[in-house]
Amino acid sequence: MLTVALSKGRILDQTLPLFAAAGIEPAADPAASRKLILDSNHHDLRFLVVRPADVATYVQYGAADAGVVGKDLLMENGGEGLYELLDLGISRCRMVVAEPAELAAGDDPSRWTRLRIATKYPNITRDHFAAKGVQTEIIKLYGSMELAPLVHLSDRIVDLVDTGSTLRANGLVEIELIADITARLVVNRASMKLKSSPLGTMIADLKAAVAAASAA
Ligand code: PRP
Repeated sequence: MLTVALSKGRILDQTLPLFAAAGIEPAADPAASRKLILDSNHHDLRFLVVRPADVATYVQYGAADAGVVGKDLLMENGGEGLYELLDLGISRCRMVVAEPAELAAGDDPSRWTRLRIATKYPNITRDHFAAKGVQTEIIKLYGSMELAPLVHLSDRIVDLVDTGSTLRANGLVEIELIADITARLVVNRASMKLKSSPLGTMIADLKAAVAAASAA
């Protein structure tokens, strides 16, 4: 039996068509069902439906053999005990530094020495600025980071940007790119050895689906 952990929320809308293109479909709609373990159209494959931030934990401990998780969470939390095997090319977005447009007008990132930053991603933020020799005071938030500069909680934010509409709606602009982000297929290291045949088949089928989607 293969157990695959799926991230709930927006990422699920793009994950399910990719798995369907690889011939794998849950028995019920995970977005609608309250069940947390779902059978699939393969008798030897089932899905877990978990919060995005928990997917890597299920896979690390072997409670799931594989999982779908954003690169942002892998960067933030580390990827111990798992292999990052496939860039699924979905949930594409950017991790950026953003700030109010009026600050950006006279700002020069090469002159930054000390910044006060609000973010849900303290480790990514610390690592990014430490590598540039910029000191940071990091204020940890759990969402709606765009609010922080508007009420002077911070000068800048580190956050994910997709369409840019949340930044625009709040008078913020991107000033620096940290990383391009997509969802990844991660696999438990022991499962890779013990279940290499069914995992290999699933990975090959997903690879073909990713290639077909990128060619479309
Ligand atoms: C994410 C992200 C931005 C927004 C970016 O937030 O943190 O706020 O989406 O998308 P856009 O560029 O298309 O506007 P999410 O909606 O996941 O909620 P959160 O603020 O609670 O993290």
